[in-house]
Amino acid sequence: MSEQYRHILVTGGCGFIGSNFVHYVVREHPEVHVTVLDKLTYAGNPENIASLPSSSVELVVGDICDVKLVDELVSGSDAVVHYAAESHNDNSICDPSPFVLTNVQGTFCLLEACRRHGVRFHHVSTDEVYGDLALDDPARFTEESPYRPSSPYSSTKAASDMLVRAWARTYDILVTISNCSNNYGPYQHIEKFIPRQITNVLCGIRPKLYGDGRNVRDWIHTDDHSRAVWKILTCGQAGETYLIGADGERSNIDVLREILTVMGRPEDEFDWVRDRPGHDRRYAIDSAKLRRELGWKPIYTDFSQGLARTIAWYSEHGQWWRDSKDATEKKYASQGQ
Ligand code: NAD
Ligand code: TYD
Repeated sequence: MSEQYRHILVTGGCGFIGSNFVHYVVREHPEVHVTVLDKLTYAGNPENIASLPSSSVELVVGDICDVKLVDELVSGSDAVVHYAAESHNDNSICDPSPFVLTNVQGTFCLLEACRRHGVRFHHVSTDEVYGDLALDDPARFTEESPYRPSSPYSSTKAASDMLVRAWARTYDILVTISNCSNNYGPYQHIEKFIPRQITNVLCGIRPKLYGDGRNVRDWIHTDDHSRAVWKILTCGQAGETYLIGADGERSNIDVLREILTVMGRPEDEFDWVRDRPGHDRRYAIDSAKLRRELGWKPIYTDFSQGLARTIAWYSEHGQWWRDSKDATEKKYASQGQ
């Protein structure tokens, strides 16, 4: 199926999930040329894709809100895979403004360019647009769940999903949307839960758990997410939304205790800290549609093994994260977290 796309534009390809996707494409579909458009915010690191051959991957440093640049890049592409976003809930609570600009205005800018040039658009979104579920609720999110975003981050992602749906219906452009659960794996910024706690232990800092620690996230390995996005891009039905999840529900306290145990520390060696305002209780994905209609299923079904590999990756790549550790922890400390 990849013959249909010779040249794809990947926005946010220097971030966590975007760079893992670029690695996946180069590895599995080497005939495809990838242009990465990335603003290189604090979350973007060109090193994430620096090892990839320049004959396959080109990096353009720029903003998805730059109408002229986006128009030029989209006009030379067969498809756009849109990862670029401000992605961290805690940051969105401190300062929502870049979230509205990048997540809403930026998506609008890309959609307009795709409309002008008739280019296929895949929008990468999150399960957080559906709000949260109670801990004792057997329900999981499906494509039919109502939108109920809680945070500035998730509300701007929800707004971007709405733009994509409206552009598909009104202008008939070829779009698909995927809403995925929490990702883990290499190259994730150390502000996020799993890498923050791993790097805390590596630095001799006590890990920090929000609230009562019973909040549940539905973890998926980022490579499983990449394979799902490729499947949807190449085989998905235009106009459709697909939920991506790997049945990986775990409470934060269980994940933290596992990190501590694997790293040889007592499982109660962490600090309870101030809860996140509006903290979503539980996310859980029913990915039956993606599995049934497109035949996708996760490969990384052993979370403990994936977590152990992730711990090993951060242990072996200190030079990748060490420079940003002080600033990240200072910011959290100023928030009482
Ligand atoms: P990230 O913060 O690690 O990376 C975001 C990337 O986008 C960075 O490289 C950054 O430089 C770039 N960027 C930000 N603003 C930009 C702009 N205006 N113009 C161009 N580039 C810009 O994020 P991530 O965790 O890799 O998430 C990627 C996408 O996946 C996001 O759309 C997010 O909503 C979605 N998502 C994330 C998760 C998760 O668990 N992290 C789960 C589901 C969906
Ligand atoms: P995070 O990685 O920020 O992802 P999201 O907000 O998109 O789910 O957080 C995952 C969970 O971990 C969330 O319930 C908040 C919690 N958390 C902590 O308990 N301590 C921390 O230091 C961080 C960053 C998050």
